[in-house]
Formats: sequence, C-alpha cells, structure tokens
Amino acid sequence: MKLNNNKILITGATSGIGRALAERFCLLGNQIIAVGRNEIRLEELTRFDNRITSFKCDISSQSELNRLIAFIKKEHKDLNVLINNAGIQYDETLLDKTYSLQKIEDEISTNLTSPIKLIHSLIPVLQSNSNSAIVNVSSGLAFVPKATSAVYCGTKAAIHIFSKSLRYQLAKIKVFEIIPPLVDTEMTKGRGKGKISPQKLVDEFIKAYKNNSYEVNIHNVKLLRIIHRISPTIADKIMKGGTI
Ligand SMILES: NC(=O)c1ccc[n+]([C@@H]2O[C@H](COP(=O)([O-])OP(=O)(O)OC[C@H]3O[C@@H](n4cnc5c(N)ncnc54)[C@H](OP(=O)(O)O)[C@@H]3O)[C@@H](O)[C@H]2O)c1
Repeated sequence: MKLNNNKILITGATSGIGRALAERFCLLGNQIIAVGRNEIRLEELTRFDNRITSFKCDISSQSELNRLIAFIKKEHKDLNVLINNAGIQYDETLLDKTYSLQKIEDEISTNLTSPIKLIHSLIPVLQSNSNSAIVNVSSGLAFVPKATSAVYCGTKAAIHIFSKSLRYQLAKIKVFEIIPPLVDTEMTKGRGKGKISPQKLVDEFIKAYKNNSYEVNIHNVKLLRIIHRISPTIADKIMKGGTI
C-alpha cells in the first residue's frame, strides 16, 4: 500500500491508538478526517497539523452516523482509506448490577454495528478511488477471551470474522485488521502490565500496511496466537484472568 497522498477517515482519533494513527499518517503526508465525540480534543488535533480536519460524531447514534456519511459523500469524494478504530469496553461481568442494557447496546453498536454500517455506506466512495483500504481494529481477545467484558470480546471476535469474509468479497479495496495486545491508552488505564505504547503499535502496523500484510498481529498477539494454535487450553488459562 502507498503510505502517502491518501485521504484517511479515522474513527476514535481523539485518543490512544486512533490519535497515534492520525498523527503518524499525517506526518507521512496524508489528509486525515478525524472523527470522535470530544470537541476539545478534535480541535487540538486540527491545531496539530492543517492536513487534519475533524468531524464530531457519536458513531453509535444512527442520525449522527448518517450525517457523517452524507458529509463524506458530499465533501470528500476522494476518501480512499477508512480506519474503524473507535471502541469502548466495560470491564464488568453480566452479573454486575452496574452492567446495564444500555452498556450492552453501546458496546455492540460502537465496536461492531456502526463500523459495519460505515463500511457498507462508504464502499462506493472507496471503490471509486485508487489505493483504497479498510482497516478494522479488533483485539487479541477476539481469539482468546477474558472473564470480564464478555460482550466486548464477542464484538471483537465478530469484527475479526467479518473482516476476513469482507476481504474475500472485495477485490479492489484491501481489508486490513489490526489485532492489538494490551496497549497503554485510556481504555486500559489503571489495569494490566506489560502494555506497549500506541506509537509502537503504529510502527508495527505501518510496516505491515506497506507490505500488504492484511491480518496484523501486534507484538505479543503473535505469540498468543501460536500458543492458541498449539494448545487452546493453555492460551485460555493465560487469558481468562487477563486485563486487556
Ligand atoms: N488499549 C488496548 O489495550 C486495546 C487492546 C485491543 C484492542 N483495542 C482497540 O483499539 C481501539 C482504540 O482503543 P484505545 O485503546 O485507543 O482506547 P481509547 O484511548 O479509549 O480511545 C477510544 C477512542 O474511541 C472513540 N469513541 C468511543 N466511542 C465512540 C463513539 N460512540 N463515537 C465516536 N468515537 C468514539 C473515543 O473518542 P471520543 O471520546 O472523542 O468519542 C476515542 O478516541 C478500540 O477499538 C479498542 O477496542 C485496544
């Protein structure tokens, strides 16, 4: 894949992995459309570089998603890369009284339904441009779940299989999947050990993206998937009490 002169929409660009992707792709010479809910952080991003424009949007809301899709179709017909990075995780179990139906809906729409809707709506735009790609962010938890966050693990397993099937469907648009380990972001604040930085994740992803390596196992997810292949039981034991 070409690393410069792309127009890239990144959801969840206001923090963590999304912000690191936005900054790196911008420095590599790309136009970025940064999407998130936090207006102050979106403004900060646009001040970082004038190649970044922002669009405030809660992707879990159908009406806001419609606004974003209309904006892209009208103002950014040259969009050629879509990065579905926005995600939320509630580190709770279904037995926790605080884990509500609303939280279940928010996790499923933000992590799964809305990225699929965005892809469906923007395929015509992506298809009309060259060097086009879709990048979905899943998780090591898509392969080996932990005890808490069952719905989150389910959405990530679904986005993994969805990405694989979509790759078979699309010839012109390349479909990438970033599979992160534990990364030091707001999502994992106060929990977990041995986190990598979002910048290290981006380093590994950029190499894979350049070489058309579509399923990108980041850092120790590579080892996790080897262990899982050899002994699913051992992998399950490692991850069951995990903190990703
Ligand atoms: N950190 C890890 O260890 C880890 C591991 C595996 C996978 N991942 C995945 O990596 C992705 C990025 O996570 P992160 O660790 O960078 O977390 P983060 O720092 O909490 O960032 C999450 C981003 O998603 C955006 N977002 C959340 N809900 C949204 C909504 N309804 N509409 C629009 N934007 C929304 C947030 O922006 P606003 O607040 O501005 O809306 C924020 O920019 C997620 O898909 C996550 O599941 C992370």
